[in-house]
Amino acid sequence: MKKLVVISGAGVSAESGISTFRDGNGLWNNYKIEDVATPQAWAKNPALVQEFYNQRRKNVIAAQPNAAHLAITELQQHYDVHVVTQNVDDLHERAGTDKVLHLHGNIRFAKSSNPDRVLDAEFDVQEEYYLIDGDTLNYPDDKAPDGYPLRPHIVWFYEPVVLIDAAADIVAEADVVIVVGTSLEVYPAASLVYRIKKGAHVFCIDPNAESLMIEQSVTLIKDVATSGFARIKDDLIRLAN
Ligand code: OAD
Repeated sequence: MKKLVVISGAGVSAESGISTFRDGNGLWNNYKIEDVATPQAWAKNPALVQEFYNQRRKNVIAAQPNAAHLAITELQQHYDVHVVTQNVDDLHERAGTDKVLHLHGNIRFAKSSNPDRVLDAEFDVQEEYYLIDGDTLNYPDDKAPDGYPLRPHIVWFYEPVVLIDAAADIVAEADVVIVVGTSLEVYPAASLVYRIKKGAHVFCIDPNAESLMIEQSVTLIKDVATSGFARIKDDLIRLAN
């Protein structure tokens, strides 16, 4: 079976009612990154950070996978499908996609806020993640087994993206790559497109699809994720054989 890799970002979940970050009404136009998405924000006002992610988690739990998530799942009948996502929602999994790598964490999970563990992550310390029961983490009452308050399993700005090498290895083996719903503004995630092998077929689905600065020729689909996937479905099935 050929290998198909989807590199997804917030746009794939937009039609499920989850805000993107950098569009007109995106989250980063309404909140400051420094207030809610950095280790410094957590040190300064952990309750505010916790509340921000509690709201995001409620939003994710209330949302349903859309036709784009489901189209990716259906492709599993034709390909060995891997999703490398920057999203912290679990809509790919809830749509039934089996192999999903979350570069920036998964909001349904919590981890210890022990700062040493967070720093050590770069050096291969195995972090433990705990599935959150319901939608709310309470600061400081909800604690990890090591006694530190639980924090969301989110990779904040200035924290290492420990899965980037694993993600790059997956992308490098792809016969077909679909880049969907990401502005490719955040590194190292954005650098994954440079790992696509020569000869791979590359599609980019995004209403603002721009030419990706890579050697391979890219089929640009300037459309939202749901109808974008519908448009390339036949091509994808043909390429599988
Ligand atoms: P962005 O908000 O930066 O980009 C969203 C992309 O989705 C844009 O290119 C939009 O044009 C596109 N888009 C909007 N609606 C769409 C739709 N219905 N269908 C398809 N595409 C659509 O989001 P990301 O690139 O995912 O990190 O952002 C990367 C990271 O920045 C996030 O993972 C997050 C953020 O800070 C963390 O929180 C750690």
